[in-house]
Amino acid sequence: MRIVVIGSGGREHALAWAIAKSPRCEKLFVMPGNGGTESFAQNVPVDITDHAAVIAFAKAEQVDFVVIGPDAPAVAGLGDDLREAGLLCFGPSRAAAQLEGSKSFTKALCDEANVPTAAYARFDNEGDALAYVHDQGAPIVIKADGLAAGKGVTVAMSIQEAADAVRDCFSGAFGESGSTVVIEEYLEGEEASIFALCDGESVVMLPSAQDHKRVWDGDRGPNTGGMGAYSPAPVMTPEMTAQVENEIILPSIRRMAERGTPFTGVLFAGIMVTRDGPKLIEYNVRFGDPECQVLMLRLKSDALDLLEATARGTLDGIRPEFTDEAALTVVYAAKGYPVNPVKGSEIRGVDGLDTDKLKVFHAGTLRRDGKLIANGGRVLNVTALGQTVAEARDRAYDAIDRIDWPEGFCRSDIGWRAIERELKRA
Ligand code: AMP
Ligand code: GLY
Repeated sequence: MRIVVIGSGGREHALAWAIAKSPRCEKLFVMPGNGGTESFAQNVPVDITDHAAVIAFAKAEQVDFVVIGPDAPAVAGLGDDLREAGLLCFGPSRAAAQLEGSKSFTKALCDEANVPTAAYARFDNEGDALAYVHDQGAPIVIKADGLAAGKGVTVAMSIQEAADAVRDCFSGAFGESGSTVVIEEYLEGEEASIFALCDGESVVMLPSAQDHKRVWDGDRGPNTGGMGAYSPAPVMTPEMTAQVENEIILPSIRRMAERGTPFTGVLFAGIMVTRDGPKLIEYNVRFGDPECQVLMLRLKSDALDLLEATARGTLDGIRPEFTDEAALTVVYAAKGYPVNPVKGSEIRGVDGLDTDKLKVFHAGTLRRDGKLIANGGRVLNVTALGQTVAEARDRAYDAIDRIDWPEGFCRSDIGWRAIERELKRA
């Protein structure tokens, strides 16, 4: 098969790497790709927001299959346009991508399908929203309705903080996506990321993962896209996973089909494990980044087979195999991330680190004159396997010690919750 992976992050490097291992992969393009993907695939500098250009490339290159990595092209309807042009595509329709694109859409679906989630109210004017905040009290959660690059959510510990967040939304801090605001009950518990491949009807649950969203050690500081991740998430016992599948994922998928907008692709459920059981925090319509990196390192089955079955609607009965080993990834970011990452510095010592237990996935990198250059906020994802999360962590940090990049930084405590659990069990 001739395949295009859309995107340029660590998630797309991991997807492309996994696809490239398939004996059925004849030719692999990554659009636009990064400094890591160019070493085994062909990077293509086509603007992915220009759907006609993507389609023209796919036709000219006789591409058989397109895999959409990020959320933005899915929400923009690239999947619909590709399918309309007769191309096979992994990724949801624009209508189904509203599960990520609109928080109020997902909340309404949860109501219809009886999916456990935080109680909420939806507002399109500031006065009513402020009155509701004062009525409910803190802690409380304020969310701009649309995509806000991960920045539209405030978990407010005081009424003051909540009121400020409401005013920010309505004053246009998040653009259009803030003109509707969802205000939610604060959920207390431990979070986990759950991934399910869905072909519109059938669902294949993938192993759980957990990420670290805050930029500093101890889970402090501003939110990021994720500073590290590990899989499995110990909080997700097999019983808990079955409960998430039966009470959250399956009812949502059934309801989407009943509405005439079946979901295909990978559904990423952010789950809060509360005292009353698992509750849905949010859906995303793509793999998590960096969660995808740990999942792809654990995957033993053919990734291309899995993604293709998802796109073709033939998932029923498929049981992908994953190694029992744990995987952990540490994000190596450019100093200044997430606010103002410094680009352009050289990174040395990355090539040659990979083994069958360690893989450096690239995110914001490019190669120039034979040098590896930092070209984004999250730059490398140093990803390792181990018998335990602790062993995977040690292997990842050993590799990081061998990378020479003074302009980079990473958290030193990725996996701490899981490792604490392992120590308690031992
Ligand atoms: P979201 O963009 O909806 O995933 O929210 C970002 C982060 O805010 C989540 O990963 C949670 O840590 C936190 N969060 C979102 N909603 C809630 C909630 N209802 N209760 C507690 N924390 C939440
Ligand atoms: N790591 C969380 C996300 O991809 O949204």
